[in-house]
Amino acid sequence: MSKEAFVNVEPVTPLVEAVETAVVDALRRALPETGGPEPLVRRSDRADYQANGALPLAKRHGRNPRELGEAVAAAIDAPDLIATAEASGPGFVNIAITSEAVWKQVAARLDADRLGVGLPLAGERIVVDYSGPNVAKEMHVGHLRTTIIGDALARLAEALGATVIRQNHLGDWGTQFGMLIQYLSEHPEAEWHRADEADPTANVAVLDRLYREARAVFDADPAFKERARARVVALQGGDEDSRRVWGDLVDVSAAAFDAIYERLGVGLTAADLAGESTYNHLLDGVVAELVEAGIAVESEGALCVFFEDVTGPDGEPVPLLLRKADGGYGYAATDLAAIRHRIGDLKADRILYVVDARQALHFKQVFATARRAGWLSGDVEAVHVPFGTVLGPDGRPYKTRSGGTVRLMGLIDEAIAKAGAVIAEKHPAGEDLAELAAATGIGAVKYADLSNNRIKDYVFDSDKMVALTGDTGVYLQYAHTRLASILRKAGAMTAPMAPAAPMSREERALALHLDAYGAVLAEAMAEREPHRLCGYLYALARAFTGFYEANPVLKAESDEARDNRLALVRLARETLAHGLGLLGIAAPDRM
Ligand code: ARG
Repeated sequence: MSKEAFVNVEPVTPLVEAVETAVVDALRRALPETGGPEPLVRRSDRADYQANGALPLAKRHGRNPRELGEAVAAAIDAPDLIATAEASGPGFVNIAITSEAVWKQVAARLDADRLGVGLPLAGERIVVDYSGPNVAKEMHVGHLRTTIIGDALARLAEALGATVIRQNHLGDWGTQFGMLIQYLSEHPEAEWHRADEADPTANVAVLDRLYREARAVFDADPAFKERARARVVALQGGDEDSRRVWGDLVDVSAAAFDAIYERLGVGLTAADLAGESTYNHLLDGVVAELVEAGIAVESEGALCVFFEDVTGPDGEPVPLLLRKADGGYGYAATDLAAIRHRIGDLKADRILYVVDARQALHFKQVFATARRAGWLSGDVEAVHVPFGTVLGPDGRPYKTRSGGTVRLMGLIDEAIAKAGAVIAEKHPAGEDLAELAAATGIGAVKYADLSNNRIKDYVFDSDKMVALTGDTGVYLQYAHTRLASILRKAGAMTAPMAPAAPMSREERALALHLDAYGAVLAEAMAEREPHRLCGYLYALARAFTGFYEANPVLKAESDEARDNRLALVRLARETLAHGLGLLGIAAPDRM
């Protein structure tokens, strides 16, 4: 996608940027010897904005900061935009915007495409590597965060104009499949692919159990271990029977994962599958290239990459293991083939690996190797986007009572059931609320995850996450239904806005908050931190509540006030729905 495709879609310049321009002009007038001064404009609760640019400048030029602040305030000349500019404190300048400029800004955003948000990432190709569950294992709570965060970042990047390539790096290759296939061949009675036609996740639950049985035999019985090893060789050598069973394992597992993606409303499909096996045929070539370049070296029969700055607690180097002494390639070799492919063939400008924090060293080593090999160079960027652990009610990594892994589908169902109960209280008995319960339950799970600082651990508390009040997905969805309901009742009662009409404090606060939407999206993307968008939307819902409590909309004191408030409600609804959409959360009109 080229930048040219978007030339007709002009973004709306945020008010803060217009203020910055005016402040820069004033700084230059007040201090002609300055070059390119920084305006340092922030939102403030004392005025609309506060400009702090005079402070560092006064210091640099040996001027009294307060006096310079006063000179800047006096020099501000933007009568349509800025109503008052006053110096305060040691040299800040408090700036209030004219009501007319704010109302016009609301109108401009409503008229514009995409709420007037620009496309700063147009022309960029971003690979997002996320989810990556493992074949023959159930998706568990550990896969929740990568799936939800990866999905949100992919949506965000697309909304900012990037071309996004989703890559589901399925764990579908490796010696463990020799073990499992051998076990299945010795237990023909295990009807694993026919367990349940209706529920694909049931099939993989059976596989998960068989996998653990196979592992136990593998560990206990040396003769089986030998047979399993031979099976790996057969599988990798292309033995037809082994390949067929392996293909079945992948299909059955992928169907189960798809069921979860669909239930979660996550945009991953079969087309995004790029599992470890995809790179199998490239491994010889990739490793040969690294050996030739002197990057990979032999060590005790294995092939490794060593790093000066990576050592263990004992000071011994911790290498990246490409090929084991028995000749088998591992996880690292696959990731090297993947990164070479993503840059060389998929033409990625940026690759985001949404994988838990425990794999930080692995990615550090993979990226360093790719850099040495010259695959990762120039402006191309590979980023590990780590995240913390989901904790159980006891504040420890979430496990079942017996210490097993917590099934993801079970957690989702639990949240949906609890959301359903909360919603049912607001509806007459007997109404079918299944769809709404799913939308709110899943929204609750996603919001609880995304609204936490990504790198921190959090406690999975299904009661708290479906609460109607507080910082929850349900609260935001509910705010959206209130906005939608006002607009529904207003019906055709919408006339053009009246920018000359007065503006209340709450109207102003809401309008200025809405004007910052695009900046928050860009910031959330730059930091890869969806919680910034969550915080913004929560503040939006609260600003709306404050506005609505103080300013009647349908029963406004004048037609002009009503039209302006309806416009504000419309912009708030569209912004909230858009933002929730980027988080992968539904925005129902009624609940
Ligand atoms: N399958 C891996 C796991 O469960 C995650 C894959 C992450 N992506 C990657 N390119 N290594 O830990």
